[in-house]
Amino acid sequence: MRTKILLTGCLGQVGYELFQTLSPLADICGIDVQDVDLSDGLALERFLRHFEPIDLIVHPAAFTAVDLAEEQPDLARAVNTEASRLFAEAAAQRNIPMIYYSTDYVFDGNRSLDLCYAENDSTSPLSVYGLTKCNGETMVRKICQKHCILRLCWVYGLRGNNFFRTMLRLYQQGKTPNVVSDQIGSPTWSRMIAMTTAIIVSKIINIPHSEFPWGTYHVSAGGVASWHEFAAAIFVAMNQHTGQEIELPKPILSADYPVKAIRPKNSRLDNNLLAATFGLKLPDWQTQLAWCLEAIQNKPFR
Ligand SMILES: NC(=O)c1ccc[n+]([C@@H]2O[C@H](COP(=O)([O-])OP(=O)(O)OC[C@H]3O[C@@H](n4cnc5c(N)ncnc54)[C@H](OP(=O)(O)O)[C@@H]3O)[C@@H](O)[C@H]2O)c1
Repeated sequence: MRTKILLTGCLGQVGYELFQTLSPLADICGIDVQDVDLSDGLALERFLRHFEPIDLIVHPAAFTAVDLAEEQPDLARAVNTEASRLFAEAAAQRNIPMIYYSTDYVFDGNRSLDLCYAENDSTSPLSVYGLTKCNGETMVRKICQKHCILRLCWVYGLRGNNFFRTMLRLYQQGKTPNVVSDQIGSPTWSRMIAMTTAIIVSKIINIPHSEFPWGTYHVSAGGVASWHEFAAAIFVAMNQHTGQEIELPKPILSADYPVKAIRPKNSRLDNNLLAATFGLKLPDWQTQLAWCLEAIQNKPFR
């Protein structure tokens, strides 16, 4: 019997890649806001009560508008915490596993910039988004014993609103942005996250659940960059590709770029547990960027 996966947020950056990447492994039922609004707990409970059969829940859907979450904390809590609780309960009731995606924003980022955060480091979110995702983690951990929590960092991809696409748009308009240089992390292509998930899902399907290493794992690109370095790398690649000479982004401090939600200064995640447990190590962020640009342009970018 083929495995059946319920995939949330299937039109989002990660969800869309997951839909395609998981398809060879299982029958995927992808849902997004037009199928059931995750902020409506009663509607979600009704949906889950009647949703059968199902072998695994993969749950990337989230309220990801970090600044808007400061203004709409109830909505962020409903989607990121409460809906995740309901999915965890649905998984626990059926004795099936669940994959939940979380974020570097569960940490405060105050750690020295040469250090990374490990899975068991204490969380201390600075923003409503970070707090609601962190509480989502807690729900999943507490309610659904067979869980994988995958913490991601600085996700970008071919769809949706993300930093990478904003930089490409500015480049195409011939505009040189000011970009913060005092926040660091590891820009990670959504497709790499989906491919990593597929390998984990394949193990979930193929080994007894009692032997699977359930728990929390960090999944981010190798290497480290500031937002400014990431933006500059996009502009350099585009200049090489187009032959134009658009001026490179200029570095600024986050204090000079006021936004509603406070971001961690250090978003570096330690991926060693993923490597030790599953033998998985994502390529460095520069390689992922080149691949993503190739995927857009269908031309070599090196
Ligand atoms: N993006 C990042 O940099 C980043 C970093 C670390 C971790 N993460 C985590 O990784 C996961 C995937 O992120 P992503 O970048 O793929 O996010 P995304 O592109 O914003 O996708 C999230 C999906 O969830 C849907 N959604 C939002 N509110 C909903 C609701 N009330 N009911 C039903 N669906 C709803 C969205 O639909 P709409 O588009 O219609 O709202 C969208 O399709 C999330 O759990 C996020 O917290 C992301």
